[in-house]
Amino acid sequence: MLTFTPIHSTFGAEVQGADLATLPDAGLQEVKTGIAKYGFLVFRDMGLDDDGHVAFSKRLGDLDNIARFITPGRKLRYSHVELFDAGNMDADGNVLDPDSARAHQAKGNGIFHVDSSFNPRRASYCLLRAVELPPAGAGGNTTDFADSRTAYDALPTDLQQQLLKKNYIGRHCIAQSRKLADPEFYHDLDPASQPHMRHYILQRHEPSGRLNLYVGAHLHSLETEASGLVDADESTRLIQQLNAHVSSAPFVTSVTWQQPGDIIMWDNRAVQHRAGDGSYGVHKRDMRRTTVHDDSPTAWGLNATSTAMPGFVYDPTSGNTTGAISAELPAPVPVAVS
Ligand code: OGA
Ligand code: MN
Repeated sequence: MLTFTPIHSTFGAEVQGADLATLPDAGLQEVKTGIAKYGFLVFRDMGLDDDGHVAFSKRLGDLDNIARFITPGRKLRYSHVELFDAGNMDADGNVLDPDSARAHQAKGNGIFHVDSSFNPRRASYCLLRAVELPPAGAGGNTTDFADSRTAYDALPTDLQQQLLKKNYIGRHCIAQSRKLADPEFYHDLDPASQPHMRHYILQRHEPSGRLNLYVGAHLHSLETEASGLVDADESTRLIQQLNAHVSSAPFVTSVTWQQPGDIIMWDNRAVQHRAGDGSYGVHKRDMRRTTVHDDSPTAWGLNATSTAMPGFVYDPTSGNTTGAISAELPAPVPVAVS
């Protein structure tokens, strides 16, 4: 039997009694039931290496991979393509040069977001593991979470009614969060010109039956089925209002990473998250993440199941940005949801 100790009055729990390396199926079921309720779970000092992290994650579904983001010549710090690099280190193990493209890209993680909302097939769970952390108290030792289900419950009734009636389609792209986080670096980048992936912004979180606001920093603009694109100003206003609401104090909590081996698992269909202050600062912070493809019927939103996952190539020298997948790499084949 696992123990779930709540972290915040509406969401989040720390789990005791789980060894993710050897968790029996009954324990896995408890984890799934627990995350359906709490939205995110914290596991302390699990001692998993890359193999163990990937192996446990695979028990939760098919994993996304980073093959499409590996631009030619980029060296990786590890061999598993299932591990997204959420840290601030380069291939030689040094803290990223703040002028490097990767350092600029990483700033987007500091704004509340939903991982993979810009993909045609969204993500269900992510599992983020600390491999190396900054010294305690030096900054960069936190990840923050926002409860997007409770935030919906707390909206004024007229706005809830508007969302239910209009059934807005959100159009997401990663350029949107990058530009929000670092407008100077990305001043030539126009998120409107990027490919957008479309997911309803009000969705029922199937594992809990609760409604969720599926918004966050990658959300660029809105459509309705009845009238197409929403007027740009109106769209921006509503997106800003909803994002400000979800990330306002009553719905937010912060988790402190205590030691390497800590793992936080969240459900992108129920919470938003962001890297805490100082995460991309001067101290090494090695964080690796697996991303589980959503296998629910709404996983692909309004996107064709044949849509390739967009990569993102930005050349700061030329200022060119494309959504193209690098020609050197095989395009990942999306898995159809039956
Ligand atoms: C991520 C992410 C936040 C952090 O891995 O998706 O947003 O604190 N990480 O590193
Ligand atoms: Mn993230």
